[in-house]
Amino acid sequence: MYFTVDPSALTSGKVTVPGDKSISHRALMLGAIAEGQTAIRGFLNGEDCLATLAALRAMGVTINQLSDTELIIEGCGSGGLKPPTEPLDMGNSGTAMRLFAGLLSGQWFSSKLVGDESLSQRPMNRIIDPLTNMGAQIDATDGKPPLAIHGGRPLSGISYRLPVASAQVKSAILLAGLFAEGETSIVEPKTTRDHTERMLRSMGAEVTSGETQIVMRGKQALRGTEIEVPADLSSAAYIVLAALLAPECEVVIMNVGVNPTRTGAIDILRDMGADIGLDNVRLFGEEPVADITVRSSKLTGIDVDPARVSLAIDEFPMLFVAAACARGKTTFSGIEELRVKESDRIGVMVEGLRQLGATVDETDDGAVVHGTRLEGGRIMSQGDHRVAMAFAVAATVAEWTVRIDDTDAVATSFPGFVNCLSSLGISIATHQQASAS
Ligand code: S3P
Repeated sequence: MYFTVDPSALTSGKVTVPGDKSISHRALMLGAIAEGQTAIRGFLNGEDCLATLAALRAMGVTINQLSDTELIIEGCGSGGLKPPTEPLDMGNSGTAMRLFAGLLSGQWFSSKLVGDESLSQRPMNRIIDPLTNMGAQIDATDGKPPLAIHGGRPLSGISYRLPVASAQVKSAILLAGLFAEGETSIVEPKTTRDHTERMLRSMGAEVTSGETQIVMRGKQALRGTEIEVPADLSSAAYIVLAALLAPECEVVIMNVGVNPTRTGAIDILRDMGADIGLDNVRLFGEEPVADITVRSSKLTGIDVDPARVSLAIDEFPMLFVAAACARGKTTFSGIEELRVKESDRIGVMVEGLRQLGATVDETDDGAVVHGTRLEGGRIMSQGDHRVAMAFAVAATVAEWTVRIDDTDAVATSFPGFVNCLSSLGISIATHQQASAS
């Protein structure tokens, strides 16, 4: 599938975007190993989370999907998962693969995790190393998927300093830690999203979090609960940018998760001059949410503070577009992690912005983007959902039509993206033949 987007401005209005991807994965996994029922509302019915759902069903968990966004999980307790009869397919999802690797390291049975072409290129030693230290045995090929996880190995808690700031790695260790003897203690080089810690607490586990350290006792039982998933700030981010770039626009995005470990992009955009307000801040369980009001703004280039990187990790494709539309130059540094996401997001964004006429200097750990008036053209998204959505927003302010190739993966995180933009006045169309010109 590919998109074409004609120059068009976002109109004022109120919108909702789908549920948070990170929280939806965790709700499924933790609900499955809890005792009793877990009811989830606001679930992200996107391909990544559906891969997690299917894998849990394949391990015998009863999950009743009442509607797209409402589920009831019959928790099977800490020893209740059953051996899958086939490899578990994680699709495009790094989160599913890494978190399951932790969870499955602690089971009595063996399992195999496979993924699509993009996921099969992503680094897994970052989880294999600490999980092996805990006693797990995981086979990979050159540190890449598929992962064969040997079951029946007793785990013990570890003290581990993460070499890279990664919530996926932290969460994999915590999930294995739940099945381990003794205490697990993790030190992060930089704060990363803490949804796992918050959800573990909401299910009755004791988890202490200091400034950079997380400590949890092993063998704690979880109890099922009700989870209301906030809207995903990482999806809202595209609407935020489209509203900032449109003339005389005011958009409110409802019930968005604003956990402080996720809001780095809002702070970066505000540093660039964006008018973004968080209203009606409240809690959905352990997670803060707000209605986000965005007004048209003139953006100015900045040196993006590397301290904000781990708090905005998924928003850099959007921020690259913001930078290209800002006055002056914007410098991104310390974002080398982007090279091992669903695509090499630095390389792919640099290439795409150049296609649209921007001047961009690429560095090993970032880029310098010079603000300009974008032209139309054709973009290769390399099958990366966030790249595709970022360029769809860029296209709204381009001089002529932008075609974005290879957009199927948008369904992994933001089903309904095209309808959402169309409902706010953006001229976007989807086309089936991937190679038509
Ligand atoms: C995620 C953590 C991030 C993020 C990903 C989701 C999670 O990855 O990029 O989209 O749910 O834990 P890293 O923690 O590996 O940076």
